[in-house]
Amino acid sequence: MQTLTINLQERSYPILIGSGLLDSSWQTYAHLLGKRSCIVSNETVAPLYLERVQAALAKVGAGTTALVLPDGESFKTGATLDQIYDHLLAERCDRTTTIIALGGGVIGDLAGFAAATYQRGVPFIQVPTTLLAQVDSSVGGKTGINHPRGKNMIGAFWQPRLVVADTDTLNTLPDRELSAGLAEVIKYGLIRDLPFLEWLEMNMDKLMARDAAALSWAIERSCANKAEVVAADELETAREGGRALLNLGHTFGHAIETGMGYGNWLHGEAVAAGTMMAVELSRRLGWLADADVERARRLFHRARLPVAGPRLGTDTYLDLMGHDKKVIAGRLRLVLLKRLGAAVTYADAAQGEIRAAIDACCA
Ligand code: NAD
Ligand code: GLY
Repeated sequence: MQTLTINLQERSYPILIGSGLLDSSWQTYAHLLGKRSCIVSNETVAPLYLERVQAALAKVGAGTTALVLPDGESFKTGATLDQIYDHLLAERCDRTTTIIALGGGVIGDLAGFAAATYQRGVPFIQVPTTLLAQVDSSVGGKTGINHPRGKNMIGAFWQPRLVVADTDTLNTLPDRELSAGLAEVIKYGLIRDLPFLEWLEMNMDKLMARDAAALSWAIERSCANKAEVVAADELETAREGGRALLNLGHTFGHAIETGMGYGNWLHGEAVAAGTMMAVELSRRLGWLADADVERARRLFHRARLPVAGPRLGTDTYLDLMGHDKKVIAGRLRLVLLKRLGAAVTYADAAQGEIRAAIDACCA
């Protein structure tokens, strides 16, 4: 097992990464559980892993209640959040109840937002079961739900007290979801870690074949990158750079997810196509060479991810992108690449260039 720490003073917490952790990790962290925990999962993940987690928690003397939600991005809504509050109230959960998210990023974001808001905040633990959640969404404390007009528009920063990433859970993950997770892995290489990008180029076939050692290393390296970025700019308030850099491709990608209807494009798929738009714009600004664009394109292609977005229409893209949380005083701030491994935030791209980059990357 690898243990990384995310350093946030009194809110620092461990990220455990390894095999068999669903059963074996709780003894050391029983003090985080209180007498009672509420496990929030979904109808796909619960039949696979819920009983095991409940049994492991019972062994360390922690009681549990469980709520199984419908599966899918289209359920990352206020209505589903209400279901969580209803359950917590019906079960008479109090401020000492720990909410445990068992599932992918959708469950983590929903359960985390419930933890941030139920009785003004209760303890929270993430047990991510998708690659995307293990490398990104379970770490760093962003929680929330979608609004029909925009992705993740309602939410809160609420750090978990522990992240338990059991790499064995990836054995049951569908191929398409594994690929979606790789989009966020590739992101770390592109924004700040050129040696990792080169490692990914050498090891993409192993990752796609689910080589356990390669996957573990990719998760560790991704979490280490994320932990550094979040520790430096937890609330994404840096004027330039900072945590916003983790959103490479996301402004374009969120437009794809919203424009296509939540759940039709997976988040990671939209991020891959959106990243190619950001890469193309960076090339148009003279920061990347054609060969750099090709390297990014090839890596996404090898991960079986889309390298072009859907034809929503450029005006629709721009309209949806206008709701981005990085917009300040009406100005769109995009995450772009000065070179491979070095991202920046940039608010001065001309509309015509943004339009051209979108057009060049629509299938
Ligand atoms: P997801 O949560 O929808 O999970 C993908 C699918 O895999 C679902 O059908 C799920 O039920 C299933 N699944 C989960 N674990 C499984 C397992 N071990 N075996 C078999 N099936 C399994 O999607 P995701 O890609 O994990 O997360 C995407 C969400 O995360 C989006 O809503 C995105 O906005 C959010 N996100 C949040 C952050 C953050 O910092 N909070 C970062 C990135 C993404
Ligand atoms: N996934 C982007 C962030 O956590 O900031």
